[in-house]
Order: sequence, then structure tokens, then C-alpha cells
Amino acid sequence: MSKIMKRKELEQHLQDLEGFSSPKILLEQYETRAHIASCMLHTIESAYGDLSQKTVLDLGSGCSALGIGAAMLGASYVLGVDIDADALEIASTNIDSFEISNIELLQCDVRKLTQILHGKFKFDTVIMNPPFGTKHNKGLDSLFVEVGLSCLSDKGVLYSLHKSSTRDYFYKKAVGWKVEPCVLAQLRYDLPATYKFHGKNSVDIEVDFWRFQKK
Ligand SMILES: C[S@@+](CC[C@H](N)C(=O)[O-])C[C@H]1O[C@@H](n2cnc3c(N)ncnc32)[C@H](O)[C@@H]1O
Repeated sequence: MSKIMKRKELEQHLQDLEGFSSPKILLEQYETRAHIASCMLHTIESAYGDLSQKTVLDLGSGCSALGIGAAMLGASYVLGVDIDADALEIASTNIDSFEISNIELLQCDVRKLTQILHGKFKFDTVIMNPPFGTKHNKGLDSLFVEVGLSCLSDKGVLYSLHKSSTRDYFYKKAVGWKVEPCVLAQLRYDLPATYKFHGKNSVDIEVDFWRFQKK
């Protein structure tokens, strides 16, 4: 078994990535910061072995922080899907700067993904930091999970971030989705103030790091 890259080293690499140049508020474009992304990905690999040698779908991939991190931890293939062409362009530059060759990008609205993949492509692992589904995007957080689950192979597993205030809601949803839900950690997430219409530069919110395992 090969050694896993150290979490700190992964964080340092992810810190070098280019972020959204002009984030689109309606698409809830804020990057997963290098520290949180590295903690998530390192846990996914070190505790569960769900990245190395696995096919990975990065849903709402933005500038590809999660996808690039997954590739660095040994994923065999990563598909990054995002609705926004500008974000995908930045992602492409980031991927090239690390000379990673096993990440592909697809411009697609999550609502159309199942139709586009025709159920032909199934992934071992889905990773995402989806829009929190507030205001204009009501319900988008749970739609992302539903679509992600529909793209999983039989024993696949999905990892996601959701506001802690929605914890009970997701536990209830998991019953209908026929998945084993688990909150792996509660994180303090540094959300740019624009997304909360707040006076300060950024505001901390409580976010749950979830693991949904197909039954
Ligand atoms: C919170 S950002 C996370 C970006 C990136 N995954 C990360 O962790 O840094 C959410 C991403 O979802 C994308 N997005 C929003 N609505 C979408 C939709 N309907 N279909 C696909 N992607 C969408 C946004 O463009 C944005 O890149």
C-alpha cells in the first residue's frame, strides 16, 4: 500500500490554486478553503480509503480544489461538473498548473447530469461542497445530494458539506434515499460576507461534513 500524502502538504498545494475571479452570488461561488478541503479529503482517504484507485465525481466543482486534492490522494479518475464556464476555465488552469492528466471537466447544470450521463457512468465516490440552498437556490443542497447518489456505483459513497442547521432535515432525507448517513465533523466555515449580506468581510457559519453510504 502506498503512503498517503501528509494533510499539511496537501493543504500547501491547495493554497496555490486560483480561486473564483468574480464569484457569482446566485451560483453561491465560494471556494472550499485549503485547510477545510485538505481535512475533508485526508479523512476520506485515511479513514475510509475512498479516494485512492477510485473514480470520483466532483459535483459543483468550481475551481476544482476538491477534484485536484482527490487526484493528489490517488484517485484513478475525476470528473468535475459545474454549470459555470468561467469557473471551469479557472479549474482548467489549476489542473494544468499541477500537470494532472486524469481530471476531466464537464459544463452542466446538476439538474441535467443524470440525463447526460445516461446512467452509464457510475462513480465509486462523489465529493461536493454544494450551494447551501438558501434564498434563490432553495432545495439545491438536497438536489445535489440526490443527483450525486444517482451517479454512484452499488457500494458507492458520497461526501458533502451542509449547514449544521439542516442536520435533522438530512437525517430524515437519508431514510428515503436508502443511505447510511453520518456526520463526520462539524466545521467552522468562513463564508464571504456577500453571501450573507453582512457588513463584515466574512462570517463564520457551522457546517457539517457528511458521509452518505449506499445500503
Ligand atoms: C460553494 S461552490 C464550491 C466550489 C468548489 N467545489 C469548491 O469546493 O471550492 C458551489 C459550486 O456549485 C456550482 N453550481 C451552482 N449551481 C449549480 C448547478 N445548478 N449545477 C452545477 N453547478 C452549480 C457553482 O458554480 C460553484 O462552483
